[in-house]
Amino acid sequence: MAAALVRQTERGWARRLLLAAAAVLASGVVSLPPSHAGEAARRGYHVVEQWCRTCHLRTTDAADADMAPPFEAIVLRPGRDRWYFQKFLLEDHFPMTTYRLFDSEKADVVAYLLALQEDAGRTD
Ligand code: HEC
Repeated sequence: MAAALVRQTERGWARRLLLAAAAVLASGVVSLPPSHAGEAARRGYHVVEQWCRTCHLRTTDAADADMAPPFEAIVLRPGRDRWYFQKFLLEDHFPMTTYRLFDSEKADVVAYLLALQEDAGRTD
């Protein structure tokens, strides 16, 4: 009897936890903060960490000819501006994972790349 009560209470808690988690998720989706450059760049950083690091080196990694260059180097190439990156991310570049991104994630990655460029002192 007592054991059954405990079990039921546990189930109740698990349910409440699930509901709370669902509420947090739902509120996150409906009330994303307004997108401004800093926020978007921060999200873009996470997209890059999740999808691009199997190939693209970090600046702290040892040079490796089998790997793609760090984004910090890519943004210094001539002609790499917002339009270039937007177009680049719209196209598929096998075997790159860029094609798997949602449009909003692509926009965030562009914001991230432009932030890197700005950090490097380039604004064209
Ligand atoms: C399977 C390996 C791989 C993955 C994963 C990958 N890339 Fe690449 N990426 C490359 C290679 C190879 C190049 C070409 C190297 C070069 O341009 O010097 C490249 C080049 C680039 C360039 C430079 C384009 C240019 O013309 O200057 C950008 C921007 C880029 N990748 C973005 C991304 C983004 C964003 C992701 C993650 C969503 C990603 N890549 C994931 C391999 C990869």
